[in-house]
Amino acid sequence: MLVFVTGGTGTIGSAVVAELLANGHGVLALARSDGSARALKDAGAEPLRGEIADLDVLRAGAARADGVISLAFGSYRDPGALAQAIAEEGAALTALGGQLIGSGRPLVTVSGTPWAPDRPSTEADPLPTDGPVGGRGRSVNALLELAPRGLRASAVRMPRTVHNQGKGGFAGLLTDQARRTGIAGYPGDGTQRWPAVHALDAAVLFRLALESAPAGTSWHAVADEGDAVRDIAGVIGRRLGLPVEPVAQENFGPFGPIFAMDQPASSAHTRAALGWRPTHPSLLEDLENIQP
Ligand SMILES: NC(=O)c1ccc[n+]([C@@H]2O[C@H](COP(=O)([O-])OP(=O)(O)OC[C@H]3O[C@@H](n4cnc5c(N)ncnc54)[C@H](OP(=O)(O)O)[C@@H]3O)[C@@H](O)[C@H]2O)c1
Repeated sequence: MLVFVTGGTGTIGSAVVAELLANGHGVLALARSDGSARALKDAGAEPLRGEIADLDVLRAGAARADGVISLAFGSYRDPGALAQAIAEEGAALTALGGQLIGSGRPLVTVSGTPWAPDRPSTEADPLPTDGPVGGRGRSVNALLELAPRGLRASAVRMPRTVHNQGKGGFAGLLTDQARRTGIAGYPGDGTQRWPAVHALDAAVLFRLALESAPAGTSWHAVADEGDAVRDIAGVIGRRLGLPVEPVAQENFGPFGPIFAMDQPASSAHTRAALGWRPTHPSLLEDLENIQP
């Protein structure tokens, strides 16, 4: 298939582009700068110049393609930037989905694993639609609701940490904070669990969803169901030669309350239905790549 990819230079997107090309697909990829266009060309993709807010460019990309993978997302930097990024992502999904309605072609988008009280969340649990990122859940739900109108829309839900070479996600934020403060800190008692996946394993699931996920379905890119946050901080502290200590959740800024939650997630259904088998290092193994 010729696949139109947005966010193809990111941690996940660059792995997705490589995975598609290695499996016989062609890639047309959105590029908002010369640097991104060059990186995509070097990777073997055809760049299409534009921003996520250029809806006509998105429609043109989708019209040329046999399928779409939507990964681009702006910034979590501050509440204003986050609100803009959520609005842009919602409009982009509406434009991409609108272009493909009636075609039966696949449109795979990204989401996050939800949390469920006292058990790992599953693919059947609904996405949260309120709170600071609830708008992302609402956009994904709106896309999946287009499924009966001839759009093979699906969502691949990411765990809290998507990592590669010891970097990325919530664990990466803990590492950054440890470097800044001199303490490998964790909120609460550290027994709360976060799920994780290696970016290269997540990329395989995006390809499988593109190739075969039925319309309106959701999938969990979860390799580690839940690593205790104290264990994550333990590896970070050892690699950086820093003390590992509990730290008040307020010290983690807006992420504090989310960092403090126990939020394991299961991928049993995804593995059984799509035949996905993660093979790359677990988060705790990958964090051994952190350099002091
Ligand atoms: N990494 C994680 O742990 C994680 C966890 C859950 C969900 N996710 C979601 O998964 C998706 C991909 O994540 P990632 O970690 O690969 O992201 P990333 O490394 O931050 O990359 C973001 C990508 O989006 C592109 N982009 C950003 N703003 C854009 C704009 N205005 N116009 C066009 N392109 C734009 C960037 O292009 P440039 O080359 O121009 O920078 C880049 O390719 C995102 O939606 C993210 O929120 C990630």
